[in-house]
Amino acid sequence: MALAGHETTCNTIGSGVYALLRDREQWRRLVRRPNVITNAVEEILRFEGPVLYHRRIAKVYAEIAGEAVPAGSKVLLCFRLGRP
Ligand code: HEM
Repeated sequence: MALAGHETTCNTIGSGVYALLRDREQWRRLVRRPNVITNAVEEILRFEGPVLYHRRIAKVYAEIAGEAVPAGSKVLLCFRLGRP
C-alpha cells in the first residue's frame, strides 16, 4: 500500500512539475488560474503517467498483432512506447 501510493504520487509530482517547466505557457496558464489544478493533475496523469507497464497472465488463448498468446502466458503490457 505504501509503495503503491508513495512511488506513484512522488513520480507524478516530479514528472508533472518537470513537464510544466518544459512548457512554460502551460505553467503560466496554471499560475494565472490555479483553480484548474484538478484538470491539470488529470492531464498530467494522462501525459506523464507514472505507471509504465503492467504484468498480466493470459486467462485464455488470444492473438495480438498476429502473435499467439497461449492461456497461462506471462504478458508485459508496456505503455507509452514510441513516445519521445
Ligand atoms: C498518481 C497516483 C497513482 C497512480 C497513477 C496509481 C495507479 C495504479 C494502477 C494503474 C493500479 C493497477 C495496478 C494493476 O492492476 O496491476 C493501481 C493499483 C493500486 N493502487 Fe494505485 N495509483 C496511484 C496512487 C495510489 C495511492 C495514493 C494508493 C494508496 C494510498 C494506491 C494504492 C493502490 C493499491 C492498493 C492498488 C491495488 C488495488 C487492487 O489490486 O485491488 N495507489 N494503482
